Parts: sequence; C-alpha cells; structure tokens
Amino acid sequence: MTRKIIIDTDPGQDDALAILLALASPELDILGIVAVAGNTPLSLTQVNIRKICEVAGRPDVKVFAGCSRPMMRKLVTAEHVHGATGLDGYDLPEPVMPLQEGDGVDFIVETLRREEPGTVTLCALGPLTNIGTALSRAPDIASRIQEIVLMGGGYFEGGNITPSAEFNIHVDPDAAEIAFTAGMKTTVLPLDVTHQTLTTRKRVAAIRALGTRPAEVAVGWLEFFKRFDEAKYGIEGGPLHDPNVIAYLLKPELYSGRLCNIEIETSSELTLGETVVDWWGVTQRPKNATFLRHVDADGFFSLLTERLALL
Ligand code: RIB
Ligand code: CA
Repeated sequence: MTRKIIIDTDPGQDDALAILLALASPELDILGIVAVAGNTPLSLTQVNIRKICEVAGRPDVKVFAGCSRPMMRKLVTAEHVHGATGLDGYDLPEPVMPLQEGDGVDFIVETLRREEPGTVTLCALGPLTNIGTALSRAPDIASRIQEIVLMGGGYFEGGNITPSAEFNIHVDPDAAEIAFTAGMKTTVLPLDVTHQTLTTRKRVAAIRALGTRPAEVAVGWLEFFKRFDEAKYGIEGGPLHDPNVIAYLLKPELYSGRLCNIEIETSSELTLGETVVDWWGVTQRPKNATFLRHVDADGFFSLLTERLALL
C-alpha cells in the first residue's frame, strides 16, 4: 500500500536530495510537488523542482508554482547558502518538462478535497506559506490531511537564520502559526535532528561510489551546500536538513521525540519565528506536534544512499 504525499518545497540542494529520495522510493505516491518562495524566489524554485525531477528521469511528475512571497511579510531568501540559482554545485540545463497550469495552493486544496479524507500526507520542506494560505482559503482541508511532516524549527539547537529562529519558520511565521494551530497531526524535523545528519567526507564518498549520474549530481550539490555550514560551525560536513522528512516517512524507527506544545513567535522582531517547544511540559498548552529530537544518522545515510542507487 503506497502512501500518498504532496511535497511543498523551495529547492535548495537539501530539498533536492529529499525529492530524489522520494522519487526513488516505491512506498511513496507523489501526487504533486509545489514550489514555494524561500531559499530562492519562486521563479527559481519552480524551475529547480523540474530540474531535479529530470535528473531522476521523472518528467511525468506534476509540478506547480505556489506563493511568491510570505503571507504577511517580505520575502527573505538564502542565496548565501544555496548560491544564486538555488541549486549551485552542478550545472543543469533549463528543464523541458512543463510547469502545470494553475496555482499550487489550489492544487493542494483540490487534491485534499478529492482524495479520501486522512489519506494524503503533506511534506513541507520550505516556508509554510503555501500550506498556511491553503488552510486560510479552505479551512475544511485541515481535517482531511493525514499528517503534515515538516522540516522546521529548533529548540535545544537554537536557530540558524537568527540566534533563535530556523529559516523555514522565520521566513513565514504567520503561515507557521496557522499550520501549528490547525489541529492536524504534525511531525517536526527540527535543527535538533538535522544537525546530527552531517554530510561527512565518508558519507559523501559512499554516494559518489554509486557511479550514476543522479549520484554525481547529488554529490555536486552536497559539496557546494556544505561549505557555508562547515565555515559557520567549524565541523566536517553540513547538516542535511530536508531529506529527514522523507526518511521519516520511510523509516520512522530512525527517529525519536515526543508530543509537545509548540508555539510560534509572530510578533517579537528579536525572536521572530522562534519555535517555543514545551519539551518539559511546564505549561498546560495543548500538545499540538511531535518534536523529533534524535536520529540514527548512519541509518539515515544508509537509507539515502541505497535509495539513490535505484535512480
Ligand atoms: O533551515 C533549513 C531549511 O531552510 C531547509 O529546508 C533549507 O532548504 C531551507 O529551506
Ligand atoms: Ca528547504
């Protein structure tokens, strides 16, 4: 029985590895991939998704463009991490496969209304703008979503774009607040997890050793993507964030955490986008999300590498 998913993403090299992992995994039925503005503007993220699908030999995948800016704020991008194209590290031709007609947010709403309730999982790899907009436009979809599994936030690990906020949540904290209060089953892959999955030389070498073109492209992306974080954190390898969302769907046993209350800071400029996690249960606030805190990093890279070999 395959699991139906919609991927919402802002590629981004780490998003790209997540999309390759999903495309290589027969357990997953990808109903569509929706671009959001984040790491780079929407004009690039919608092209990058199609480049990634073509690297995987999947020009059949339905790719849509969603929102071009956060719900209430101006866009913050991260070319300093991902490069000007958002997929620096390997030169790829412009995509040939088409961008689907219509708005990506409408695609999310229409798909959730068409599919059996509780059978579609949202995989959010970027700012939550498309999802917050969909929930605002069509509040009825909240009860139809099986689960939202998102890369975002941080607690014990702090932030990465500000001292207290992780990029995806910081870019659109208002959308994040809508998503975290919509009552959906919510599972969070925060920096506390993704900072354990580091692209060390040994792990990248195992992907390079696959000897396939998708692996060659993936290594180019990883080699480019790690340089910013290696310089910032003074470690070997960079945190590979987004593929943890897909790996969680495939092998949840690699992860552990707990159901907590998670609130989003949406007003303080100092801590805008902070995920306030009541890990120790000191409040009576509703436990609205599972905050994952630990991952078997070697198991994660083994899964990623063995699946990339299938492309
Ligand atoms: O903070 C890391 C997240 O922000 C990742 O999803 C990365 O791709 C960027 O979107
Ligand atoms: Ca991303």
